[in-house]
Amino acid sequence: MTGLPAVASAGDLFDSVIDVKDFANEGAPDDEKYWKHIAHKYYSVSKDYINLENGYYGMQPKPVLQAFQRNISLANREGARFARKVYPGMNTTIKKELADFLTVAPEEIIITRNATEALNIAIQGYPFKEGDEVLINQLDYFSMIEAFRLLEKRGKIKVNAFDMRLFPANEDEIVELYSKMITDKTKVILLTHVSNINGLIVPVKKIAAMAKEKGIDAITDSAHALGQVPFSLPALGSDFVGMNLHKWIGNPIGAGVLYIKKERIKEMNVLFGDVNTAEDNISKLAHFGTTPFAVIMTIPDSLAFHKLMGVEKISKRLHYLKSIWINELKQIDKVEILTPPDLSCAIASFRIRDKKTVDVADVLFTQHNILTVGRILGKEGCLRVTPGVYTPADDIRKFISAVKAIAL
Ligand SMILES: Cc1ncc(COP(=O)(O)O)c(C=O)c1O
Repeated sequence: MTGLPAVASAGDLFDSVIDVKDFANEGAPDDEKYWKHIAHKYYSVSKDYINLENGYYGMQPKPVLQAFQRNISLANREGARFARKVYPGMNTTIKKELADFLTVAPEEIIITRNATEALNIAIQGYPFKEGDEVLINQLDYFSMIEAFRLLEKRGKIKVNAFDMRLFPANEDEIVELYSKMITDKTKVILLTHVSNINGLIVPVKKIAAMAKEKGIDAITDSAHALGQVPFSLPALGSDFVGMNLHKWIGNPIGAGVLYIKKERIKEMNVLFGDVNTAEDNISKLAHFGTTPFAVIMTIPDSLAFHKLMGVEKISKRLHYLKSIWINELKQIDKVEILTPPDLSCAIASFRIRDKKTVDVADVLFTQHNILTVGRILGKEGCLRVTPGVYTPADDIRKFISAVKAIAL
């Protein structure tokens, strides 16, 4: 067993490369010296372009990448002996560590390949009855919208869509909007915790509580929330939550989580054939075949590194980086900011009034080496901008100058 990662204490793996003193510092959001040091020492960032598309997936910190590389070699070298004799026990430990991180029971989570898989299991497995309605809006993620539309096409439910206000005055206005759209047939509300389109953060806890009072469930898409914004999973009050580990937790790509509150598991229908597992055992939902061992084995390392940094500190830094460009570009008439700064964190969107978003994204990339991404929002769309923790404020300033050059 020599060489097997110490799954239960991933911190040990870091000793050679991590200096815990680096993380003792408060790391104020605008302390460029601190963040440059962290970026340089712990991230291997490409120097030939500015990546403001960290919403796609997050970069693994160097120690996590090293652990991943070790895990790939190990799974490859040890082959089926490892997979059959060692991995199952390791997987149990990993699930426990992940559950502890999420402050829920291991019996309430399954590890999936991503948030899409997690949420499809929840959406397609939800025990809808004839006539049930579901509530969605234009800022929800398209794959979840499509999962509900698929059920609608199959005659199982009716989908009601509304337009979320782009600039709600406060959280209560968002709750009110959802509340107004509820009919006496609404059974489920899709809650996209952090929108992938404009970064809007919705008050999941308040909406889920309002819905629950009316006997309505929230299926919550926290793909972008986990690791980017602080929240307590059990305190959300949503019985079904899908999350990603490869966006803001910094795990290798190919890991998501589905949480289902213990009492709700037995009602869920399975998406992948399974007739043998007990109805109240969440494993009945995880019958999806061989999984990427090395990706899952690295979860303790990515959680350990993320904890070392601390979600509060990460969140404040990301919010700060976003605020720099919003505060500057909102003063330009031709630039339309599409995100309320106080109800968002890293992700925010904009457009330039007389320009097509695809063209702006193209000029930013080809002429300024800055990667952003176009998203669908109304007729004109928008450009999503997402810094990462390793992004220096200087890069945000280069982005501001580039947008000014295009707009003016
Ligand atoms: C809000 C939201 N939900 C779900 C997903 C799906 O994540 P994945 O592609 O990793 O399944 C994304 C991906 O960007 C997202 O932004």
